[in-house]
Amino acid sequence: MRIQEAYDIIKEDLKNVDLEFKKNLDSGVYLIKKVGEYILNNGGKRLRPSLLVLSAKLCGYQGNRHIPLAAVVEFVHTATLLHDDVVDNASMRRGKASANTLWGKGASILIGDFLFSKSFYLTVADGDLDILKILSRTTTLMAEGEVLQLLKGSNIETTEKDYLTVVINKTASLISAACQIGAILGKASMEKQKTLARYGMDMGIAFQLVDDCLDYTSNNEELGKAIGNDLKEGKITLPLICTIKNATSVEKKEILAVIESGDLKDAQLASVINLINKYKGIDYALNIARRHVESAKTSLNIFEPNIERAALIALADYVVERTY
Ligand code: IPE
Ligand code: IPE
Ligand code: MG
Ligand code: MG
Repeated sequence: MRIQEAYDIIKEDLKNVDLEFKKNLDSGVYLIKKVGEYILNNGGKRLRPSLLVLSAKLCGYQGNRHIPLAAVVEFVHTATLLHDDVVDNASMRRGKASANTLWGKGASILIGDFLFSKSFYLTVADGDLDILKILSRTTTLMAEGEVLQLLKGSNIETTEKDYLTVVINKTASLISAACQIGAILGKASMEKQKTLARYGMDMGIAFQLVDDCLDYTSNNEELGKAIGNDLKEGKITLPLICTIKNATSVEKKEILAVIESGDLKDAQLASVINLINKYKGIDYALNIARRHVESAKTSLNIFEPNIERAALIALADYVVERTY
């Protein structure tokens, strides 16, 4: 199945999820609605709500609770993006100026808080304590992941293990939760719930590894974000960790000088990309991402083959094929 077909299966649900966003952004405070709608209308792949909806349907769910809960996972994601762009000094998001560029850091942080609070309000309204538990554990992990990343910033001693802990917490935990919540809606067995959570965890790890590669290999127009931003902000991701590990001491010093310069000139980015190419840092990270995608797909073998399973397999493949 191709990725577009996978999205087509749940087209109506995704439209309803978007209506749910609108409803919940309706605030008397005008800036909340404005910024919220700006970021949500600028696109985004809607990966997390799609995974929740497909997982629920794979487990036979037929009700309507998946719509608000899918909105919840996208709200949590959007809140973390608003906060993340402040922390990362990011100027672009989804092909447009980031919210912090247009309305400032304060507005981004506070509207992120609004979205987090709304997410919990909607989850409590749904009333399933197991789902609430998963979601609150996830948002705690995500915050820990972002703080851990901050602590590791500009540290060229960062290990692959440290990096993976950050990735699992800040990104994979929410993708995994989206899948598990879908399974809970479908009243799936514990084995199936755990399997979908594991599928999401592998997907999520691969997703962030690819994002970190694209930060070096893509371009602003295609990615919709400013490339080279990780290096500029001193974020040591897997392509660079692999390079630092294999580089000569002179090359390591060169990388450190770039990270510590605070600013990032085109020539500096090009010199680091040269070293990453020399030591095959992108191939290294992509190979690990591919292994996680294979493992994600294999996990789904316990389910009968059907259209939702095929869509989840297509989404897993898309994670490593994507260019934005
Ligand atoms: C961006 O997530 C943040 C990461 C976890 C890398 P997405 O790439 O899913 O962002 P949108 O929602 O499609 O814009
Ligand atoms: C993902 O990391 C951040 C979150 C999970 C919020 P990045 O910092 O790499 O995400 P982008 O590149 O800004 O989208
Ligand atoms: Mg970022
Ligand atoms: Mg990134």
